[in-house]
Amino acid sequence: MSIADFPRHLLTFGPSPIHPLDRLSSHLGGARIWAKREDCNCGLAFGGNKVRKLEYLVPEAIAQGADTLVSIGGYQSNHTRQVAAVAAHLGMKCVLVQEKWVDWPDSVNDRVGNIMLSRIMGAEVRLDDAGFDIGFRDSWKQAIADVQERGGTPYAIPAGASDHPLGGMGFANWAYEVAQQEEELGVFFDTIVVCTVTGSTHAGMIAGFAALEAAGGRPRRVVGIDASATLDKTRDQVARIARRTAELIDVGRDLRDDEITVLEGWAGDLYGIPVQSTLDAIRLTGQLEGVIIDPVYEGKSMAGLIDLVSQREIPADSNVLYAHLGGQPALNAYSALFSATRRVGE
Ligand SMILES: Cc1ncc(COP(=O)(O)O)c(C=O)c1O
Repeated sequence: MSIADFPRHLLTFGPSPIHPLDRLSSHLGGARIWAKREDCNCGLAFGGNKVRKLEYLVPEAIAQGADTLVSIGGYQSNHTRQVAAVAAHLGMKCVLVQEKWVDWPDSVNDRVGNIMLSRIMGAEVRLDDAGFDIGFRDSWKQAIADVQERGGTPYAIPAGASDHPLGGMGFANWAYEVAQQEEELGVFFDTIVVCTVTGSTHAGMIAGFAALEAAGGRPRRVVGIDASATLDKTRDQVARIARRTAELIDVGRDLRDDEITVLEGWAGDLYGIPVQSTLDAIRLTGQLEGVIIDPVYEGKSMAGLIDLVSQREIPADSNVLYAHLGGQPALNAYSALFSATRRVGE
C-alpha cells in the first residue's frame, strides 16, 4: 500500500506553513534555517503535531463506532489537549489520564495551560501521581475499562499517539508535504531537525523520507533531538515505529540504523525540566523572530539546532528545516522562569 491508500480524516488546514528564520540564521552565521509550523496547522485548540497523527487514527475510531477517545500524558501534555480538541470537534467524549510526569514546583501546574484547555473542551481529566514513562500504563487501561463499563465505546490512544500501528502515518505524510512545498519554494531541505520523546513524529518522518528517496528523491538527514532524558527508550521506540511505518507504506527495503539518529545533549537530566540552553533558545527565538517555543520540547530541540548550526555540524551551505511541533500552552505552567525581561546578548 502507498501512503495515499490510507484513510485520512482531515483535521488540519492543509499543508502547514514553511518560512525562513532569517534573523536567527544571520545571528548564527551558518546554515539558512527555516521553520515548518505545526503550531499553526489547524483551528483546533492551538494545534500541534498530534492533530496530524490523529488524522490517521480517527478513521479507525469512527469505523469502530467509538464514542469516547481515551488517552494519557503528563499534567501539561500537549497531546491530551489535542485529543480533547479532536474529540470535541468530532462530537465524541474524552477521558484523559494526566500523570505527574514533571515534578515542577509551580502551584498552578495542574490548573493552567494545556490541562485547563482540556477541561474547557469538556474532557474528563483524571489526575494520577505516576511519574514520566512513555510506555503503556495501568491507569490508562483502567480508564478504557471504565468507559466500557459505563456502556461507552472507547478508542484507545497511547501516549503521544505514538505506539499505535498508525502512529507514524501523520508524519510520513508530512515528508510528502515537505517535498511538495520544496518544489513550490525552489529549496531543498538537506537537514530536518525535530524534537523526539514518544517517537512517532520523528519515526514517521524517517519512513516518509525513506519512501521518497526510494522513489528517486535526494537523500537527506532527519536529526531527532531527544527531550525525554530517557534516551534508550526513546531511541528504541523511534526505531520500532519507523520500521513499522516503513513497512506499512511500502518503502521496499529495511531502514538502516544510520537513518535513525536521536541526539542527546539538550534534554538535561529530566523530562519537562528546562536547562539553561533551553531558556536561552526560547529567548533567542522569541527576541530575534517573534516565534514562541516551549520549555519541555521545542526549546530543547531549538537549543540542539542552534548548537549544530553554530558548530557547523550542520554545514554553512545547508538549508535546515526546523519542525515546530507546537506546545506553547505549557509555558503558562512555567511563568516563574520568565517573570522579568532578559534581553539576550545584553
Ligand atoms: C510540542 C511537542 N514537541 C515535540 C513532541 C515530541 O513528539 P513525539 O512524542 O512524537 O516524539 C511533543 C509530544 O510529545 C510535543 O507536544
